[in-house]
Amino acid sequence: MSGKLQVGLLYGGRSGEHEVSVRSARSVAAALDRGRFDLVPIGLDRSGGWHCMPGGALPDAVAVAAGQGAAVVPVGDSGACRLVGDAGETVQRIDVVFPVLHGPFGEDGTIQGLFEVLGVPYVGAGVLGSAVAMDKDIQKRLMRDAGVPIVPFVTLRSDEWRDDPQAARRRIGELGDRVFVKPANLGSSVGISKVDAPAQLDAALDTAFRYDSKAVVEKAVDAREIECAVLGNRDPKASLPGEIEPGEEFYSYDDKYSAESTARLLIPAPLTAAETAEIQQLAVRCFEILDLRGMARVDFFLERGSGRLYLNEPNTIPGFTSISMYPKLWEASGVPYPELVSRLIELALEWHQARPVAVD
Ligand SMILES: Nc1ncnc2c1ncn2[C@@H]1O[C@H](COP(=O)(O)OP(=O)(O)O)[C@@H](O)[C@H]1O
Ligand SMILES: [Mg+2]
Repeated sequence: MSGKLQVGLLYGGRSGEHEVSVRSARSVAAALDRGRFDLVPIGLDRSGGWHCMPGGALPDAVAVAAGQGAAVVPVGDSGACRLVGDAGETVQRIDVVFPVLHGPFGEDGTIQGLFEVLGVPYVGAGVLGSAVAMDKDIQKRLMRDAGVPIVPFVTLRSDEWRDDPQAARRRIGELGDRVFVKPANLGSSVGISKVDAPAQLDAALDTAFRYDSKAVVEKAVDAREIECAVLGNRDPKASLPGEIEPGEEFYSYDDKYSAESTARLLIPAPLTAAETAEIQQLAVRCFEILDLRGMARVDFFLERGSGRLYLNEPNTIPGFTSISMYPKLWEASGVPYPELVSRLIELALEWHQARPVAVD
């Protein structure tokens, strides 16, 4: 093993965003500065198994059946961790982890909690920030509390829907006829429906409740979709904003990831200087309110006609493919992809070194 920092690139995972994660991880791997870091790809299969991938290979999907890589478990080792194989042998040391996992069990604070317990530095938001940013209901309540403009919404639990659908329909009705129905904890537009008439509401809720026992229903706005990248720990900086022009009726799963997608990214977004400044300022505020660190992509709606700006949601592990918005926005703001990856790793190490360690 070289004297370089061993970077554990964690990808795959148990969420519906497994394949997306593999694509993001490949780009991060390609951008990693090998002069400073050694790449250790760690694939998480869909049943939760960990595989230390040989030779830096990142296959399309991580599968136990395919016998990919050595099956390992992480064991804490004072400020680092060791990946240990079946016979208790150390397969690899990891000095810092870069989780490129989207959605539940990756972006939601659970894996971050594991690395806290093991005492290993990791890139991105901590347990609390990750969990809160993943939950569209809690996150919106904190935004509302802080006076950040958000679209009117209603939260509904599946038992409330089952026990008193009339009351639920009344509450939702106050948002108007056109709403978006979403599972509270997910991403990539999975389980999200656009409802144009009350008759479509029940089916939309049934869909959302297949993914989560809590749904968020939001008033639909006719808006441009603007995204801003944030980077830093205590003094985070915002990138130039970018714009998504969805190729479908809204920015759906296929529109985000399919090869046939006709969605367009405008970088930077055509905005006035005042709009850009307001978006950057709100993006940083959101980052601070939710106690995020390292990185986040903060998404906005800029309403057509009124010009009103709403915060949509933060993403604590944004897409990292070569065409993804987060790295593209930093490139446009003067931070090339390889430098961005190095900076994120440095931020993880800085945070870890500066954290209070007193226990009694
Ligand atoms: N209130 C809304 N009004 C208009 N479009 C919306 C609204 N909420 C969501 N959308 C559309 O659905 C997409 C996905 O919703 P979002 O809340 O960002 O979920 P995800 O976490 O899955 O990305 C958005 O990018 C946008 O195209
Ligand atoms: Mg989104």
